[in-house]
Amino acid sequence: MKLAIGSDHGGYRLKEEIKSELKLRDIESVDFGTDSLESVDYPDFALAVAEAVAAGKFDLGIICCGTGLGVAITANKVPGVRAAVCHEPYSARMAREHNDANVLTLGERVTGPGLALEVVNAFLTTPFAAGRHAKRVAKIGEIEAKYMGVKS
Ligand code: RB5
Repeated sequence: MKLAIGSDHGGYRLKEEIKSELKLRDIESVDFGTDSLESVDYPDFALAVAEAVAAGKFDLGIICCGTGLGVAITANKVPGVRAAVCHEPYSARMAREHNDANVLTLGERVTGPGLALEVVNAFLTTPFAAGRHAKRVAKIGEIEAKYMGVKS
């Protein structure tokens, strides 16, 4: 499994925690920044991760900001990206199982590091259930095609 990971300054510390955990578990990840606590604009980093995932270069993406919200809103503008803000493991499991989410977003100011790592673990270890969920996810693709002119 290969992951794209990124954050703004508000999610920088959490991104670093997650990177350390991934390294311990021998999971490959590429960091799209930011690389310090200096204030930056979250859409720049969310876009970089989202585009890399949408291009098929990575299996999944993880993006952190203060709340997880701004980066999710941004990432979901990229066709083919289904980003889910998850503050606890149940949502992370369902995001994968039912929604085939391919990007997890987290809020450093919302979810403490211990819980956040459980969220990441749930997201990375849960497969898409497909079945009845597949046609619903396909409908999301149709909406993208209708409004963004792109079929993902
Ligand atoms: C930065 O202060 C903060 O707005 C950002 O990290 C994020 O929470 C936006 O949604």
